Amino acid sequence: MAKYDFQVNVCNETETLVLGRKIADGIDFPIIITLVGELGAGKTTLTRGMLRQLGHLGHVKSPTFSIVEMYEILSLQIAHFDMYRITDEQELEFLGFKEYFDTADFIVIEWPNRISGLDFSIDIEITITIKNNSRDLILKSRSDRGSLVLKKLKSKILR
Ligand SMILES: Nc1ncnc2c1ncn2[C@@H]1O[C@H](COP(=O)(O)OP(=O)(O)O)[C@@H](O)[C@H]1O
Ligand SMILES: [Mg+2]
Repeated sequence: MAKYDFQVNVCNETETLVLGRKIADGIDFPIIITLVGELGAGKTTLTRGMLRQLGHLGHVKSPTFSIVEMYEILSLQIAHFDMYRITDEQELEFLGFKEYFDTADFIVIEWPNRISGLDFSIDIEITITIKNNSRDLILKSRSDRGSLVLKKLKSKILR
């Protein structure tokens, strides 16, 4: 399958939430998405949009301190990681990081670059760049499953 690689710009927080909803709407589980971008880029905001679309009504807490927040939405197990504070891989082992890959249907990882030593397969990699209030997002598929999601997303955005 063709690899998808495209860029979108979102002008405010609401647009980021809507984009998150559109991404989630096309997902076939299980799926792993990584979110790259500096503090305040909108990684947690995008995740909030995705979780809302899947039916989560409550708060979406940034996992900066807890490292991982788990959600159960209908029968979906969702793990939202923030690796910002991870300094060595032993911390992740302690958290049972690898087990999440066996049990979760949807894994979102903010700051994946902090755990470069670990080997796991990514379906979609999203990089967010800050431009004042607007954000440039580059979405790249890393698997056939990821390509399908982005293909559907692209048709929704261009429509
Ligand atoms: N276009 C935009 N998309 C997302 N967030 C935006 C945007 N413009 C401004 N913001 C603000 O930037 C911050 C993003 O925070 P957050 O999603 O927690 O970032 P991160 O998880 O990348 O650190 C929020 O305070 C939000 O209101
Ligand atoms: Mg965050």
